[in-house]
Amino acid sequence: MAKPSKHKSKSNLLENLLPTKEVIIACGPGGVGKTTSAAATALTIALNFDKSVLVLTIDPAKRLANALGLNGIGNKEIEISDETFKESKLKPKGKLSVAMLDTKESWDALIRRHAKDQATVDHILSNPLYKNITSKFVQSHEYIAMERLYDLHSSKDYDIIVVDTPPTRNALDFLDAPDKMADFFSSRLLKWLIAPYKSKLISLASKPFYQIADKVLGNQFLQDIAEFFIAFQSMYDGFVQRAESVKKLLSDTRTSFLVVSTLEQVPALEARFFVDELQKRSLNLDAVILNKVLPEHFRSKYETEIARNIQEQAKILSETLSKSSQNNSYGAETYEKVFLEIASSFLNFQKVAQQEAALESEFADLVSISTKVPFHSEPINDLNALEELGKQIWMQN
Ligand SMILES: Nc1ncnc2c1ncn2[C@@H]1O[C@H](COP(=O)(O)OP(=O)(O)OP(=O)(O)O)[C@@H](O)[C@H]1O
Ligand SMILES: [Mg+2]
Repeated sequence: MAKPSKHKSKSNLLENLLPTKEVIIACGPGGVGKTTSAAATALTIALNFDKSVLVLTIDPAKRLANALGLNGIGNKEIEISDETFKESKLKPKGKLSVAMLDTKESWDALIRRHAKDQATVDHILSNPLYKNITSKFVQSHEYIAMERLYDLHSSKDYDIIVVDTPPTRNALDFLDAPDKMADFFSSRLLKWLIAPYKSKLISLASKPFYQIADKVLGNQFLQDIAEFFIAFQSMYDGFVQRAESVKKLLSDTRTSFLVVSTLEQVPALEARFFVDELQKRSLNLDAVILNKVLPEHFRSKYETEIARNIQEQAKILSETLSKSSQNNSYGAETYEKVFLEIASSFLNFQKVAQQEAALESEFADLVSISTKVPFHSEPINDLNALEELGKQIWMQN
């Protein structure tokens, strides 16, 4: 991947990157701020450009969901009203809508789309195993998130869709999900499961298994499974085509990936894996967002000297302060304890900040654009806090 100029400022990034994209996908390890960064990015676009933006969130924290006007789960997109913006004293140039991914609802819509007739739809949706299986399906969640994205993008209702991704154990499940789903449909396991029911003949070899399974699980159960998968397999072609389209959309130049991470060892390692994989697949990794970073002053050598001075001179400082204090009830020893504690806590933070700096420079070698966002001491759960975060990600150098 070509490295753009290091001189690229964030305002250029804001102008040149965000409004030129149609899909922006925030991915990264669990708990690092993907949902918050996705929401802040979508808000930044709506505030600065005359674009219609949708942020597709996954399981946002309750208070953030409320702030975005999402009350409970539902696939329906909700546009943030002018009044809500006014209450936060914000004047967007564009429009911002929000939606939350509802796996079950999305699966139902998918079945309706691909099934060859209404009878098949009814058959699948009323199958007692359907709900259970779709929630536990191989990568069901990741797959459906990409499906929903494809659907929303095809609707052309939005200029830009910012996508939050689920916290996956295997970092890139969602990229492989369309392929894996297509594989599943043609898998031997599936064929083996349904073959006897399809032909209504149980082969000699499989007979003992089915006899035992019948006894243990009940005939109805096996019948349900087989019928379910037979109906499901009739949708094979639709699924495979669709999986291809989703893959194309993900690798389109109008799609941008952002890797979000903190600068802690474990998430940073996982994020590097993301970066590698995205680059290997030639997907457009446009920026790495380094979130919850300690303030810059922890990296300064002057502050280190001061903290060390405080540590070394704690005794003298304490005596002076205790003497000059109006309130003589605190002895010099108490002052000294506090000084030592403050200095060593500062130096500990500095150690962490140095580790962060080292990890940051590793990222700088890997990607052309990384953007640092400080840790917020206040919770990020209203539009103003999101606006501030958006500025830190995209505008402040
Ligand atoms: N810069 C920041 N400073 C302080 N807190 C932050 C910052 N960014 C995000 N948070 C907080 O961190 C928590 C996790 O953020 P968020 O839900 O966006 O992470 P996530 O990556 O989507 O998590 P998950 O992988 O579980 O979906 C939230 O409480 C959020 O408010
Ligand atoms: Mg999240």
